[in-house]
Amino acid sequence: MVLNAETISQQSLPRHVAIIMDGNGRWAQARNRPRVFGHKKGVDAVRSAVQFCSRLGVQSLTLFAFSSENWRRPEDEVSTLMELFLYVLTKEVKRLNKNNVKLSIIGDISKFPLALQERIFAAQDLTASNTGLQLNVAANYGGRWDITHATQQLAKQVAEGKLQASDITEDAISQHLSMAGQPELDLLIRTGGDLRISNFLLWQAAYAELYFTQTLWPDFDEAAFAEAIASYVARERRFGCTGEQIKQLLASK
Ligand code: IPE
Ligand code: IPE
Ligand code: MG
Repeated sequence: MVLNAETISQQSLPRHVAIIMDGNGRWAQARNRPRVFGHKKGVDAVRSAVQFCSRLGVQSLTLFAFSSENWRRPEDEVSTLMELFLYVLTKEVKRLNKNNVKLSIIGDISKFPLALQERIFAAQDLTASNTGLQLNVAANYGGRWDITHATQQLAKQVAEGKLQASDITEDAISQHLSMAGQPELDLLIRTGGDLRISNFLLWQAAYAELYFTQTLWPDFDEAAFAEAIASYVARERRFGCTGEQIKQLLASK
């Protein structure tokens, strides 16, 4: 990204927000309910986050729904999560489409049950030409998987003689990642109190602002989201420059 007055002032609101939606299990356990009760409740928070971002004019919202490591959970939790995805995709996609949301699922979906894969393709097709919020749902996603997958595609082109090794630039790698062509990640939020990335957007988080909150995902309502945005807006992003340089660039606008 070229750093100039235009790009800096555009940064007052995030263009791309990603969320590690964590804490569903603890939310349910605190109510003496099974963990899956928290996942179900978490769907309401997803709906609220999507509406909030649409209203705010955020261009891309990326939600971590199921990591490449979440297969390690007890079998019944994994299968209930698969059923929940299928149900939510079926139930919510019409509403998303009506609200002009474009849905993409990022991750290795080839590992999902066939019925779910079909539903994913149908939902993506239905919303493909929408021009509002770009909603990316990360499912069986891992940041390392994304980079590995991009590298394999580039290596294949080199092997076929279509590309030189020296053509493998940062831009070339970015262009082969799951969210190629979308705005750079500006803000990465994690709910649930843990201070880690859990193999989410490793490449894309290079210069994202990080926001961690104790709030558990089912409790992450509009007010909580607005607090995260306010924290982002109040920050000075320097991208390696000095604070003075950034102030000069803004003053020249
Ligand atoms: C996040 O909530 C949702 C998924 C990983 C599917 P958790 O299920 O991890 O909730 P906690 O962290 O155990 O409370
Ligand atoms: C990260 O949460 C994955 C999602 C929110 C989908 P986890 O609860 O799986 O992360 P760890 O295992 O605590 O790092
Ligand atoms: Mg968790």
